[in-house]
Amino acid sequence: MPQPSPPLEQPPLKRLVRALRGQSQTPPPVWLMRQAGRYLPEYGELRRQAGSFLSLCYTPELAVEVTLQPVKRFGMDAAILFSDILVVPDALGVEVTFGNGNGPCLTPVRTLRDVAALRPERMHHHLAPVYDAAERAAQALPEGVALIGFAGAPWTIACYMVEGSGGAFTAAKLWAFGEPEEFQRLIDVLVEATAEHLIEQVRHGAEAVQLFDSWAGILPSSEFERWCIAPTRSVVQRFKAIWPDVPVIGFPRGTGCMLRRYAEATGVDAVSVDSGVSAEWAARELQPRWAVQGNLDPVYLLVGGTELTGRIRAILDALGDGPFVFNLGHGVLPGTPPGNVALLVEAVRAWRPRGEGATGR
Ligand code: CP3
Repeated sequence: MPQPSPPLEQPPLKRLVRALRGQSQTPPPVWLMRQAGRYLPEYGELRRQAGSFLSLCYTPELAVEVTLQPVKRFGMDAAILFSDILVVPDALGVEVTFGNGNGPCLTPVRTLRDVAALRPERMHHHLAPVYDAAERAAQALPEGVALIGFAGAPWTIACYMVEGSGGAFTAAKLWAFGEPEEFQRLIDVLVEATAEHLIEQVRHGAEAVQLFDSWAGILPSSEFERWCIAPTRSVVQRFKAIWPDVPVIGFPRGTGCMLRRYAEATGVDAVSVDSGVSAEWAARELQPRWAVQGNLDPVYLLVGGTELTGRIRAILDALGDGPFVFNLGHGVLPGTPPGNVALLVEAVRAWRPRGEGATGR
């Protein structure tokens, strides 16, 4: 009798996805925030071809190539889709430009009239090239390498939109603290747009997503719940309603001991920690309940040598036994020698838990 054919086999989960779902991996998977970008000579070439930074983001052939560059060179466990958090305000109809090294420049959104002028209905069409790039990148990645989608968290995006640039974001804070009901209207638009953007990236091949709340740390503790936690929770709820099994990494930069409250209240699967908290603290306070990602200061990649490898080992000794993704505390800095990134990946791959030989684990 012929045997019934076995059910179609699902491909095995990738190492990054397993770690984010709470399964320890030895050695832990590794990728780096801003792993594509100006420190790579091959990036500079495509950047020149594209003309402007945003046209690089919106030209799928080039965005895919840039997404793959660090993976080809260094062999990370994940690629992050090459794009920017500011494509969302751009898609909503705010004019966004990137000057020469002066950071982004946006037409400021400061009144309810400005909020009403945002165009969420055009977002999907505007971001179609980003989703196209995601789809192509997911197909082009080497086996076992995961694609990460991302977005800025509503608070951080609102900071740039209200201010119109980088900086101390005093205008954004002034509006949020002074006229919270008005500012909430902007946040509400961003919650919808952010969730939609993450959901679409997964529909087009992303296997995990990260929410960058790069400016969460400038909120006073009295405002943290309202402007960081609540909008993030709403984004995560909307996302999980569509993709319950796709891991969400939260990165509320600069929030120190608030990280635990953030993880508890937002529903993220994993917490990306900056270098302001110790790896030991993260292992004790976060890792029993959430996967942890982080937390090497990117300046160690400028320093190199045994200072770099020693720090990597210390972080892995603290966190490597549990569910962990090796990463930086913030993005790779321009001027980083690519050789030091190669050294980092090599050092993470060579790490084994202490006493592994003795216990035979
Ligand atoms: O490799 C990756 O990490 C993927 C791509 C990526 C970029 N920006 C590319 C980029 C990601 C994930 C981001 C996130 C991002 N963008 C954040 C959150 C992380 C963080 O750094 O806190 C923020 C705040 C932004 C906004 C942004 N984009 C700024 C402030 C700048 C200008 C400053 C700078 O570094 O030039 C950008 C531009 C940008 N985004 C570049 C890259 C590679 C450089 C642009 C260039 O090539 O000229």
